[in-house]
Amino acid sequence: MIWPLVFFIALLAFFLHLMWPHISGRGAGYGRSDLRAAERALELVDVRGKTFYELGCGYGDVLAMAARAGARAKGVELDPIRWLICRARCRGCEVVLGDMFKVPLNDADVVYIFQWPSVNEKLAEKFEKELKPGALVISYYWEVPGMELVLYDERHKLYIYRKK
Ligand SMILES: C[S@@+](CC[C@H](N)C(=O)[O-])C[C@H]1O[C@@H](n2cnc3c(N)ncnc32)[C@H](O)[C@@H]1O
Repeated sequence: MIWPLVFFIALLAFFLHLMWPHISGRGAGYGRSDLRAAERALELVDVRGKTFYELGCGYGDVLAMAARAGARAKGVELDPIRWLICRARCRGCEVVLGDMFKVPLNDADVVYIFQWPSVNEKLAEKFEKELKPGALVISYYWEVPGMELVLYDERHKLYIYRKK
């Protein structure tokens, strides 16, 4: 009779893994960028030699791509399991375990996000305060309110903004 309990605990752990950032009110939970969209983002924005941040870098798909494209890649991830996987996959990247809202972005040239709309609203305030003029924000799937949109790729659901 132990197996139903083991199954329930495993299911609960998996649910918390997917949803913890959302339940704790700090950001989006599950979801990964479409890899073709991420590739397209890195074609549209040349990251070679640039400081590239991914806020909520998940399992590291996009961060690893940015590093391969020649960026100084820095990731921030709240969830320890995703953080560990991202670190293992992104050798040569700086991957911080922590809250993206607490990481200063003063040195960022490019910031990549795939968060949910309510989170993007809060990030917009952080970008306004911390990003240097000219820094670019690439948002997959959802808009970032109040920023200057320089490019929208409808097919790949990519919004690219420039900090004024
Ligand atoms: C929708 S997923 C996107 C993952 C990855 N960026 C991608 O595009 O494939 C959102 C990620 O943000 C992370 N996250 C949510 N809130 C966060 C926060 N406050 N600080 C750091 N990471 C956060 C989640 O754990 C999750 O990995």
